[in-house]
Amino acid sequence: MNKKNLHSNNFFKEHEYKDLKIPSGRFYGPCSGQDLNFAFRLFAETIKHFVFCDLSYRGRSVSAKNAVPNDWSLISRDFSFAQKSEKKTWYSGNRAFRPSVITELWKRPDGLDVIVELRRDLAEEVLVEQFEIGSIAAFMHINDGTSEGGSDLWFMASPLQQQNDNYRSQFLLPKVAQRLVKGAVVVTDGVMAHSGFKSYTPFVSENVKWKPLGKVENNNVLDRQPSLWRMC
Ligand SMILES: C[S@@+](CC[C@H](N)C(=O)[O-])C[C@H]1O[C@@H](n2cnc3c(N)ncnc32)[C@H](O)[C@@H]1O
Repeated sequence: MNKKNLHSNNFFKEHEYKDLKIPSGRFYGPCSGQDLNFAFRLFAETIKHFVFCDLSYRGRSVSAKNAVPNDWSLISRDFSFAQKSEKKTWYSGNRAFRPSVITELWKRPDGLDVIVELRRDLAEEVLVEQFEIGSIAAFMHINDGTSEGGSDLWFMASPLQQQNDNYRSQFLLPKVAQRLVKGAVVVTDGVMAHSGFKSYTPFVSENVKWKPLGKVENNNVLDRQPSLWRMC
């Protein structure tokens, strides 16, 4: 990525997403609710295995069909419970739920198969249970918050940044950074994130360097400006 991408006014153009260099590995989108379209806009050409996780992905009809590119075709879909036991979270009023996963297999026009998982589970646990060290090539946490339906999961901030004593807040950047492949791309809107992700200049956290690549248009939430960063 050349130097002009570091300029604070720099926006990616739609046609540039396909040229993004992404190392091999999976995509993870925790608390991804309605973010699927945006994820496929950015990574449909480069990622072969997407994992989305949100408590709202309830039931068997959840699908990526309205988010994947129009020229992809569905090969198969499968629903299964991810485990026998139930889990609880304050977020859903401590009502028990059984984690589940919809797995869809899609074929791209170039013949490549793409796996899309839609997990109903605790996103902070899926991060640790489903992703070994150095396995995530693209990570996206956007449009989330600490109130009014927000998860209070600070995937892009380290515990050193905690300024409140809210027992619900979890600061997960050390766990995320460990699981990213070197050269992985992260997408953040700078909310619930290390302050460096608001600066658009390179910074160091978790003993790695984070370099800004550019900003992206996201029509979903108008006052949030996602940007792409590379972990070096
Ligand atoms: C503010 S919404 C944002 C969702 C998404 N980014 C969007 O814009 O549609 C927060 C989401 O986090 C999900 N959530 C809250 N706690 C969660 C948890 N522990 N694990 C997985 N999802 C969670 C909720 O179901 C909700 O969809």
